Amino acid sequence: MPIRDILPEQLKSLVRPWYYSVRRYWLYHKPKPIHVIHNYWQKPDTVNDPHTYLRGQPRSAFLVGLLKKYVPVNGSILELGCNVGRNLNQLYQAGYRDLEAIEINPEAVQILKRSFPDMAEVASIHVGLIEDNIRSVGYKDCIFTMAVLVHIHPSSDWIFAEISKHAKTLIVIEGEKGASWRHFARNYQKIFENLGMCQVEEIDCAQVPELASDGLEHYVARVFQTSPHGLLK
Ligand SMILES: C[S@@+](CC[C@H](N)C(=O)[O-])C[C@H]1O[C@@H](n2cnc3c(N)ncnc32)[C@H](O)[C@@H]1O
Repeated sequence: MPIRDILPEQLKSLVRPWYYSVRRYWLYHKPKPIHVIHNYWQKPDTVNDPHTYLRGQPRSAFLVGLLKKYVPVNGSILELGCNVGRNLNQLYQAGYRDLEAIEINPEAVQILKRSFPDMAEVASIHVGLIEDNIRSVGYKDCIFTMAVLVHIHPSSDWIFAEISKHAKTLIVIEGEKGASWRHFARNYQKIFENLGMCQVEEIDCAQVPELASDGLEHYVARVFQTSPHGLLK
């Protein structure tokens, strides 16, 4: 009989937070090899079939609303892990044209080109790893991610320093608590502030009804800007 079935409810609620933090620690410090994670995203199972990413327009609308506060319409924008380009297309519809992205999954990029041909015409999409492309992308007015950094293998944590060196404004909308063999929990405020960026806005997605009802209830949206003291630049 599993141990959880014999523990009294009160003891379970005492043990639960400890159990989850040990689990997060274990999954982060004893991950599967990096090629297992990359292979998964190059050809994901039905749970992450790229066609499913055409849904989720409310979360893209939220992203565009947030980004517009910080990035002028002629600003240069890079999305890491764009999948089928739903976010990029809403940015295109909002008037942004200097669009670039990196995506590991070639099928997702094919769907992007078929689904959003006007956006695909102007956007520059690199099919490959963030790890292989982030150093050569150049300096951007904005880099953003949505549910992507959580899938970055711990041995690739060096990319966070590269991101901070390449972005005037950085927007990350990421799950920071849940963990699995392909979800790595991190606190992005600590990470990017330690790299010299300043967090200028934080939104608990659970408090935003259209995000909470769109599956982002455990996510945090954070906006960072280059430190006014220019620590790294
Ligand atoms: C959970 S999906 C989120 C997709 C998109 N950002 C959205 O909000 O719809 C994660 C995306 O990141 C991509 N990805 C994961 N690891 C990657 C890596 N190391 N390099 C490039 N893309 C990666 C996946 O292929 C997938 O498209």
